[in-house]
Parts: sequence; C-alpha cells; structure tokens
Amino acid sequence: MMKTARTFSLSKPKASSSGRKLGMRASRATRATRCGAAAEGANSFQPNLKGSLVNPSGARSRLAKPNALESATKADIEALERAVRSEAAPDASPVLICGQVCHSLTKEREEIILSMEDFMQDKVYKYLKPTEKCWQASDYLPDPAAEDFIPRVQELRERTLSLPDDYLVVLVGDMVTEEALPTYMSMLNTIDATKDETGSDDTVWGKWTREWTAEENRHGDLLNKYLYLSGRVDMRQIEVTIQNLIGSGMCPKTENNPYLGFMYTSFQERATKVSHGNTGRNAVKHGDAALGEICAQIASDEARHEKAYQLICEELFRKDPDGMMMAFADMMKKQIVMPAHLMDDGIHTTRGSGNSIFEDFEKVAAATETYTTADYVDIIEYLLKRWKVETIKCTSEDGQRAQDYVCKLPNRLRRLMERAEKRMKKGNKTEVQFSWVYDRPIFV
Ligand SMILES: [Fe+2]
Ligand SMILES: [Fe+2]
Repeated sequence: MMKTARTFSLSKPKASSSGRKLGMRASRATRATRCGAAAEGANSFQPNLKGSLVNPSGARSRLAKPNALESATKADIEALERAVRSEAAPDASPVLICGQVCHSLTKEREEIILSMEDFMQDKVYKYLKPTEKCWQASDYLPDPAAEDFIPRVQELRERTLSLPDDYLVVLVGDMVTEEALPTYMSMLNTIDATKDETGSDDTVWGKWTREWTAEENRHGDLLNKYLYLSGRVDMRQIEVTIQNLIGSGMCPKTENNPYLGFMYTSFQERATKVSHGNTGRNAVKHGDAALGEICAQIASDEARHEKAYQLICEELFRKDPDGMMMAFADMMKKQIVMPAHLMDDGIHTTRGSGNSIFEDFEKVAAATETYTTADYVDIIEYLLKRWKVETIKCTSEDGQRAQDYVCKLPNRLRRLMERAEKRMKKGNKTEVQFSWVYDRPIFV
C-alpha cells in the first residue's frame, strides 16, 4: 500500500504583496550572485532583508533582513520582477537560482498534484512493466557463458560492418543520451511535489521515478554493449563524452514545476520513441536486422512512457485547464531542449566549424532522417490533438492567450522550417569529424 506524500500546509504568499515578494527576490538575488550565473538585473540588487519567507510550494523558508527595500531603487525592483516572473505560473512567487526561475509551483497547484496519487496508482502506474516481464540487455547479446560466444560476436561484428559512419554517429548519440540517465533521475527529483524525498519514498511518485529510471537503464546498457562488441566505434571517446555529459547535467527550464516537468517528459518520451524507431528502421535498411530489433524494443518502452506522461498532462488539463495551458505554451516558447544538449567529447569544439558535438550530432540525425525539425513540429501537432487542446475551455486571459499561441504554433514553425530548408539546400555540405568514429569524415 502506497502512502500519500506528506507536505506542510502553509499558505501561498500573495504574488501582489510587494514587501514579501521583494524580500523573496532579495534572497533570489543573493543565490543568483553566489552561483555566478545571475539573470540580468538580479546582480545589481544586493539584498539586506530579514524575515521568514515561504515559497509557493510551502516546502522551504528563507531568511532575509527587513527594511532592505529602502536601499532598492524602482528600477532594481522592476528588473527583479522581470527576472523572476514565471510565464507558466504568473501568479506564483518563484525563486531565482543561478539565473533560472525555480520553484514556480503555487500552493493551489501543489494541492492538485498531490490529489492525483490515486489517479497515478490506478491509471498511470500500469504503464511500467514488472521486472519479470521486461526484456534485459542479455536477451539481445551473445551469452559470454555459452560455447558459441565467440562465433556469435563474430556474426555481430560482420553485421555491423555494413553500418555507415553517419548511422553510427546517430546510434552513438542516442546511446550517450541514454547513458546520461543519472542526470534525468536527478532532474525528476528536483520537481516539487513529486520528487522522491528520501530515495525510497513509499509514494506513487517516488516509485514511478525509481522504476521509470530502472526501465530506462536497460536502454543505454544494451546499446553500449552492442556498440562495444561491434568494434566500429572509439569506445574511449564515447566514455569520455558520457562522463562529461553527466558532469554537465542538463537545463530543461522546468522551474521545479511538475506541470512543466510533465509537459517536457510528454514531449521528450515521444521524441526518443521517434528517434529510436527511425534508428531501428535504418539499421534494417543497412542490413543489421538484429540491431533493428533492439532499437524497436527500446522504442516500445519509450512509447509506454510517453503514454503515461501524456495521461498525466491530460488529467492536469482536466483539473486545471488554464494552468496546464500556460505550462504548455511556456515550454513551447522555451523550446524543448534535448536531454543530451550539453554533451562534449573534449575535442569537437576545438576544430572544424567550432560547433559543439551536440550541434553536429543533431545535423547528422536530421540528414539521416532519424530526428528532424519536421519531427519536432509533428510532435507538437500530435500533442495538440492528443489533448484536444483547441476544445479546452480556458477562463483566464493568460490561459486563452496561451491556448491561442500553442494552437497556431505548428503552422508558424512549418513556415520557418520551409524557409530554413530552402537556405540549407542552397548551401554546400560541410565535412564534420567525430572522434566517436575515429574522425572518419561525414558530410552534412
Ligand atoms: Fe530511453
Ligand atoms: Fe524514455
């Protein structure tokens, strides 16, 4: 039996209460300065406030001195106001950490999330599979204890000889992305109201996060071992990339807010499903049907995860249409960053175009039609239909504006995409080298 998550029931500070609001901002400014990556405007206001402050989730209190407002100019206050406003939750009083808006979940919305434990248990949890029903990496790899291990490895190596370098780069990029799983679990555990507070919470949210992670762990594990056995790629360079990526983290701009977090994961799981699905189809085209099957299995896991996260969003649209609509629009404005956007092999940027390895990986993924801008727009369109966004009744002006924005977005993006494609067609292909494939040239 899962227990309900316990939280403090503290009242939400009024967003319009200037004294309290400014006090919080002073505290944010301190943190931003300490992190050395403060948002514009936050640095200029050195706080001198004292008083007990409670953030919207009621989860923390902050100390600051009273009367510091006297030393703040109107411009200081306005700059801070702009810096800390959450587009997704304009009624929240978020904090600013390292220049990013954080903890924008309001008390009311926290209550909504906490009221969804039964829903999670009854409707969503089933999208995870029990371990005994899951495939494991060993099911798709030569058994090292078997007599025919060496000939099976030899077969694998012969099959993968037919995989071109641009294909290998995409497969490695997919694998590196999966291998940065510690980052994604950390991210989930920054989300207010759903995070696993103890590491072994007996709540449906805590269990979801851990078991989702455990399922995902098989993806990088299998792809990594397959690529290792193939002998086609520079494993050391790949391992360096993974270590750097986990060391760098990621920046999805989800504000510790589950509304934004679930919107991000709804999109991202579908994106990985599309990407692994296409990688599988391309493997078959290149003559490696076994690899095609591996990618298809991974894609089918992503499909379950996608359904689960989209179901959570559907419920949030039902319970809080305006709040969820603003979250949708906010994530779309910020754009969904790929989880591995900070990948770095330590070499790539020092040569060639100076692009990051992630930028060039994205280009190869697009050129091989594994994951393209059109896929990005298709996902938005799919989500709009999936949640019947056009028919949702928003009552606030902010909600209606957000709805209008997201509904028009696919057409707007397609127009931009067509223009970008025309420009690309006019340009010449450039040579890119990836250390992952021993610097063999690839043209994108
Ligand atoms: Fe995955
Ligand atoms: Fe996934």
